[in-house]
Amino acid sequence: MKKIILTGDRPTGKLHLGHYVGSLKRRVELQNSGEFDEIYIMIADAQALTDNMENPEKVRQNIIEVALDYLACGLDPQKSVLFIQSQIPELCEMTFYYMNLVTVSRLQLNPTVKSEIQMRNFEKTIPVGFFTYPVSQAADITAFKATIVPVGEDQSPMIEQTREIARRFNNIYNTDVLIEPKILLPENSACLRLPGTDGKAKMSKSLGNCIYLSDSEEEIKQKVMTMFTDPTHLRVEDPGHVEGNPVFIYLDAFCNDEHFEKYLPEYKNLDELKAHYTRGGLGDVKVKRFLNSVLQDTLRPIRERRKEFEKDIPAIYKMLEEGSIVARKKASITLEEMKRAMKINYFEDKEYINQQAQKFA
Ligand code: TRP
Repeated sequence: MKKIILTGDRPTGKLHLGHYVGSLKRRVELQNSGEFDEIYIMIADAQALTDNMENPEKVRQNIIEVALDYLACGLDPQKSVLFIQSQIPELCEMTFYYMNLVTVSRLQLNPTVKSEIQMRNFEKTIPVGFFTYPVSQAADITAFKATIVPVGEDQSPMIEQTREIARRFNNIYNTDVLIEPKILLPENSACLRLPGTDGKAKMSKSLGNCIYLSDSEEEIKQKVMTMFTDPTHLRVEDPGHVEGNPVFIYLDAFCNDEHFEKYLPEYKNLDELKAHYTRGGLGDVKVKRFLNSVLQDTLRPIRERRKEFEKDIPAIYKMLEEGSIVARKKASITLEEMKRAMKINYFEDKEYINQQAQKFA
């Protein structure tokens, strides 16, 4: 069986550190491993519209921002197909059939959708399209016969829903057209859900607690130096807490032993730094300065590559257009196979047409 990756992001803003550790970094590693037969990276504009229908300009503008972030991180159109969801109408057609395989009560159980509904105050005003986006996401994934979906932890209910739909479809139509994908989560538990700079559970644009991949050196420094830390660690000599402390969670996600050698040689590694903080006698400013150095080293090359790509924006649209053509070809083959399995390929089945003719003869 071919090894195929599909993943993507909603273009509702620039991408931030949470996206980077949760999925982007891994994608680039997987891309460069050469282990995959096909890789599809989708800008999910149609999904972004499910809760931004009255704000299409926001979605439109962020397509190029997300594409730039992708390229800046090292996604390479020579190795991965980068495309825009709305340009693949076959996905809508698949979604329409998948809707029949899912119950309303099953969708109501989706914990990610539940919390999104709460965050958006949608309780009484959920657009049907938003409510059913997990079904459309199943189409995104199965259209490309993806075997692996590298995403953050919040997406795991969508992958589970996709597996259920694929299984149900294959069972009902006695086929193996659809593939049940596997989720690929980050290995480092600090990367599963990076908290915001304010210590809230998730980095989120609407909370204003993000560090963006395209932030300037100054912006990064300012955000790091004002980060939430351990509120009980008032004086330097007080013992501190590293669990749940976003500064240490970021260090867990980003720093390595070389960073210590370069910036804090009095400690060998993060364990030693954590031990000192826990014991007391280590100030937050020193730890934040170190985190700033680590993040600057991580983001500088990304920001510089982005600047290069920004010089030829039309070339990026062209690349997305070409990627969308390739992606559409693949999705349309899968849709043909599905329709054949569902026996709604009326004009293709000459034998069936002849049988019907006999019946009426
Ligand atoms: N739901 C994803 C997000 O919020 C975006 C997305 C849409 C996606 N379709 C997908 C991710 C298919 C992985 C696979 O970022």
